[in-house]
Amino acid sequence: MKVLVTGGAGYIGSHVVQLLVERGYEVVVFDNLIAGHRAAVHPSAQFVLGDLLNKADLQALFAAHTFEGVFHFASHIMVGESMEKPFKYFHDNVLGMINLLEFVAAAGSKRFILSSTAALFDEPERVPISEDEQLAPGSVYGETKFMGERLLMWMDKIYGIKSCCLRYFNACGAHPQGHIGEDHHPESHLIPLVLQVAQGKRQTISVFGNDYPTADGTCIRDYVHVMDLAAAHVLALQALAEGNSRAYNLGSGTGYSVLEVIEAARRVTGHAIPVEYVPRRAGDLPVLVADSTRIKQELGWEPEYDNLELIIQTAWNWHNHHPNGYGDRQ
Ligand SMILES: NC(=O)c1ccc[n+]([C@@H]2O[C@H](COP(=O)([O-])OP(=O)(O)OC[C@H]3O[C@@H](n4cnc5c(N)ncnc54)[C@H](O)[C@@H]3O)[C@@H](O)[C@H]2O)c1
Repeated sequence: MKVLVTGGAGYIGSHVVQLLVERGYEVVVFDNLIAGHRAAVHPSAQFVLGDLLNKADLQALFAAHTFEGVFHFASHIMVGESMEKPFKYFHDNVLGMINLLEFVAAAGSKRFILSSTAALFDEPERVPISEDEQLAPGSVYGETKFMGERLLMWMDKIYGIKSCCLRYFNACGAHPQGHIGEDHHPESHLIPLVLQVAQGKRQTISVFGNDYPTADGTCIRDYVHVMDLAAAHVLALQALAEGNSRAYNLGSGTGYSVLEVIEAARRVTGHAIPVEYVPRRAGDLPVLVADSTRIKQELGWEPEYDNLELIIQTAWNWHNHHPNGYGDRQ
């Protein structure tokens, strides 16, 4: 079975590609390498350099292949940047997906899996957050994912394309073999930033606010391992063969505070990891934790990496052995 993975040279996409290859899928990765890394793509996957904003690239891709399933990871990913450059996010994320869907619809592919996000839930009435929670994006980034989910609703109605929107909470960790991992430029995620201190690349880790209504005053997030995300993607693809379109919230189900993450990283790395307290960031919610009951019940998904130290251990294994990531960027 041949599948397309847009953004498959990126952090999460490359882990999904590896699992798909291992499960026997024929994988084509389509990526413009604006943020991804050629070396992250499994050697058994076919790599196509191309941009979703360039219809000629998509034309050539779909002329050469017939896909039974499409995984769509390719997008800009930073909440903060999306508020400074809203048109970049609206234009590239939304138009890129529209272009892709045009070709998917024309080709008759019927299974589509979207990388969605916890950034849809900025006004949760209940935490842990289930799929029944109201969708209220608090950033342009989140809004572009919301628009992506809406596009898919119409694609189902009009073309019968069945979709699964996987709303990841905080993706983290690396492949246990340590050969692929997270390498973002700039890095905006907590665990790799904390590990940069242990690597000597930064003096301190900044903690944005310690006066939140949580036990230690720092924000609580749900860290879901990238290998568990990969497993969920394969399950979603299989489920769409017969089932309806759906959305799932993906988290490990346990919330950890920023200080708990730093403490766990100290235990894993043996480094003191000094902390610098700075004012709160606008828009940060005190607690964001997923209720992933639905995907567990419906697809039998069970996160294997439900232990913070184990998660950080896999990330440290990657960063420690690849201090400059894939080495293709400053
Ligand atoms: N990292 C997280 O914690 C997280 C959480 C929720 C959702 N997501 C979503 O998951 C997806 C993957 O995230 P990631 O952390 O792996 O990001 P990433 O930046 O590592 O990967 C994105 C990939 O898409 C490619 N790309 C971007 N624009 C493209 C275009 N126009 N044409 C072709 N390729 C393009 C990039 O080169 C990169 O390889 C994104 O859609 C992101 O919004 C990530």
